[in-house]
Amino acid sequence: MTPEEILSFTNEALAFFGPDAEILAANGAFREIFARVDAFLAPGTSWALFLAEAVRQDVLSSDSARKLSILEEGLTDPSAVLRELDLETSLGILRFSLKATSDDGFALRVTRDAVGISEEERELEHLMTKVLEACPTCLTMARIGDGQILYRSPEATALLGKGFNSREHFALRDERADFITELLPNSRVDDMRITARRVDGTPFPASISARLIEYRGEDVIVSSIVDLTDELEMRAELDRQRQQVFRSEKMSALGEVLAGVAHELNNPLSIVAGNAQLLSEDGVEGPARKRVDRLAEAAERCVSIVRAFLSMARDRPLHIERIRPVELLETARDAFEATEKTALEVTIDGAADLPELLIDEVQIVQVLTNLMINAEQAMEGRPDARIDLVAGVSSRVGFLQLLVSDNGPGIPPDVAPRVFDPLFTTKDAGKGTGIGLALCHRILVAHGGAIELDQDQRDGAKFIIELPAAEDIVR
Ligand SMILES: Nc1ncnc2c1ncn2[C@@H]1O[C@H](COP(=O)(O)OP(=O)(O)OP(=O)(O)O)[C@@H](O)[C@H]1O
Ligand SMILES: [Mg+2]
Repeated sequence: MTPEEILSFTNEALAFFGPDAEILAANGAFREIFARVDAFLAPGTSWALFLAEAVRQDVLSSDSARKLSILEEGLTDPSAVLRELDLETSLGILRFSLKATSDDGFALRVTRDAVGISEEERELEHLMTKVLEACPTCLTMARIGDGQILYRSPEATALLGKGFNSREHFALRDERADFITELLPNSRVDDMRITARRVDGTPFPASISARLIEYRGEDVIVSSIVDLTDELEMRAELDRQRQQVFRSEKMSALGEVLAGVAHELNNPLSIVAGNAQLLSEDGVEGPARKRVDRLAEAAERCVSIVRAFLSMARDRPLHIERIRPVELLETARDAFEATEKTALEVTIDGAADLPELLIDEVQIVQVLTNLMINAEQAMEGRPDARIDLVAGVSSRVGFLQLLVSDNGPGIPPDVAPRVFDPLFTTKDAGKGTGIGLALCHRILVAHGGAIELDQDQRDGAKFIIELPAAEDIVR
């Protein structure tokens, strides 16, 4: 007996499909309902083709065909209960019942007993569909047991793709387990943070809210997922700005203290410096001469540091001059070598035809010597220690770039974000106060320039300084 003969013994409209969703057999009652697409009921025709043709011939609405297709995708377990849907067809509302078969195919029964949907109810269903389709949220409805998706809004399809299982929406399996665990006792979850998976497979931060409801005798999760990527980026940016404000507030509080100290030091220091100067002019000879010179030098240095503190605290107007970049680097190197008496090698590199800088030379030399002193302190005792000073053009139009790099131990990632903080130091008391880089930052900002640490630098530390040039650089 052929399958068709067996099927002919019943008045119910029945069709069987094979493992590749191809038609195996359809009985007379089934053919009668789908008379318009009879040619597509021959054994071997694919289910997808049959549905497409039924839509084309207006036997099924495209919405009905889509629902049927989603329902069919979810059939896996032959022992599961019959899955039913009442759908709009050219013959009115019909009930479609589907069931997986043991040979990986499925059976479809179509009956007219989808009784009782009134005109109002149909109108309501139509309205609901319209609302959901237009709803700009990422909404899904899925069975809790196997994760099979029953409904998905267009927004959800755009964000999460067309997968058939809601498990795919979670990038981390543990997070889905936590989600279900939280959902079960109260049938609800609000704003839970998860890592979701985008349509292209990439993970993204998201917030999920859900309700557990009963739908056609099954537990179903209705959930909405919100993409938090933009919001988190905005929050990170705000945090960064807040930190900057905090840093400059700390800086100005520090500035006031320094202003007081510097002010008090200013007078006694000028006496020391002035007298040292007088002594050396008096023509002291012998070993005392050397001491007097060193005294005068040190006193001068103290005076210039105090002056720098004062200028930092008081926002003293800058004495802007035009300086050739390479000359500036040479002056800074001389100042560094004169005060530090070091064997460390300092190289200078930069084209002679670079435009001039518009800067307060005294202050920028102080920035550069600060950086060199830091490098020297970091490399103490290294035989091959060196500092490279490089002048060049910047990617910022109208600016030049000065690079200060060393081949020391570099700055560890956990220290890097804090080096410009006033009073931040990793050095022992007496060796460092943590003012150097904060002051550099302050001076550069006053110039309309910038200083930053090159985070990509592997060997040693590298600081990038941007300063205004005297003319626009044509690049
Ligand atoms: N070239 C460098 N190599 C390694 N670490 C550095 C370098 N430059 C700065 N640092 C780190 O940054 C910290 C802050 O530097 P900063 O110049 O602000 O203060 P300091 O040198 O510790 O003290 P001060 O400059 O007041 O004497 C240093 O303590 C050090 O840990
Ligand atoms: Mg320092």
